[in-house]
Amino acid sequence: MNKNLILYWPKDGSTENAAKLIAKHLGQDTSDLMPLDLAIDKDLSSYSFIVAGSATVGAETWQKATDKNLWAKFFALNKHEVFNGKKAALFGLGNAIMYPYHFVDHLEVLQNEFLKVGAHLIGNCPIEGYSFKESRAVKDGFFPGLALDEDNQPELTETRIKKWIENLK
Ligand SMILES: Cc1cc2nc3c(=O)[nH]c(=O)nc-3n(C[C@H](O)[C@H](O)[C@H](O)COP(=O)(O)O)c2cc1C
Repeated sequence: MNKNLILYWPKDGSTENAAKLIAKHLGQDTSDLMPLDLAIDKDLSSYSFIVAGSATVGAETWQKATDKNLWAKFFALNKHEVFNGKKAALFGLGNAIMYPYHFVDHLEVLQNEFLKVGAHLIGNCPIEGYSFKESRAVKDGFFPGLALDEDNQPELTETRIKKWIENLK
């Protein structure tokens, strides 16, 4: 059976909670939830649809392949090359009040990397309903995926996820 892969990092926090909710709405039986530390050594080529999520935790962190942000390591190893020609959707956690000029910036890094390897990104979302000033991720009024703010709008998270997945399907 063709399965969905839900890849996320960091774990044990809001990003993981969002990933679990995405699995719930996408379908538990057809989705494999995988934190990035487990994915590094796995063959990911059999998945037909990839959902990838990340928190934005500061540029200095994501540019270095640290334990805090394994995405840089994952991309440096070219683990995502197997997503060539596959459909993929991105989600990003951020805090629009504390970081209004960098809201979910890391979504742009994920977007660039996925496009670089030839993945077909779906699931962009309009910026309405979020109060931030700037984001590197936003182009023409859209995030390249689903933006979530568990710090300030936790009550909206599940509704946003549900609506996003309905649109993805
Ligand atoms: C050190 C640090 C830097 C952060 N920088 C940003 C930022 O630049 N932009 C943003 O939108 N959120 C930023 N955040 C907020 C986190 O992305 C947000 O709290 C997220 O939900 C954390 O996810 P986690 O619980 O999975 O780690 C930052 C948080 C921390 C602790």
